Amino acid sequence: MGQSIEEINKEKLVEIKKKEHFKKLLEEKNNEKYNLIDFLHEVQNIYGHLSRDIQITIAEEMGLPLSQIHSVVSFYSLFTTTPKGKYTIEVCMGTACYVRGSKDILDKLSKELDIEPGQTTEDKKFTLEGTRCIGACGMAPVVVINGDVYGRIDVDDLPEILAKYE
Ligand code: FES
Repeated sequence: MGQSIEEINKEKLVEIKKKEHFKKLLEEKNNEKYNLIDFLHEVQNIYGHLSRDIQITIAEEMGLPLSQIHSVVSFYSLFTTTPKGKYTIEVCMGTACYVRGSKDILDKLSKELDIEPGQTTEDKKFTLEGTRCIGACGMAPVVVINGDVYGRIDVDDLPEILAKYE
C-alpha cells in the first residue's frame, strides 16, 4: 500500500526540520572551537547516519578535507554511513547475554529478516545489530528495539516481539 499525502507531508516536514537543525549546528560550530568527533556524533543523531553526501556537505561547510572527515567516520565504530531502518534491533552480545543464548537470537533474527548484523532490510524497516553489554545483565539475554527492552527472551519469543513492529 502506498503512502498517504499526510504521511508524505510529515516526512517532508521531518526532512526540513533535520536540515534546519543541521544548519544551526554548523553555524554554532563555525563560531566556536569544537571536537570533530562530538560534532559528527551530533550530525549522526540528526540523520541517523553519515552518508558520503553528508560527509561532503560537512567538509565543504567547515572547510575541512573530505579525507579527514572520512577517516574519522570509518575509524570509529559508532559511526554508520548507511541509513538505519525505522526500527533498530540491538541484540546484546555481552558475556552474560552470550552465555544465555544471544548468539542464537541474533542468528534467528538474521534468518527471519534475511539480513546480516549491521544491515538494514530492503523495506528500510529493520536494522539488526549486535551490541556490547547494555548494563541489564540481570535480564540476560536482552534485545532492545528502538529503546524498548526485552529481557530473558528465548528464540521462540521473537515472532511475537517482531509482530509488534509490523
Ligand atoms: S551482557 Fe547483556 S546486558 Fe550485560
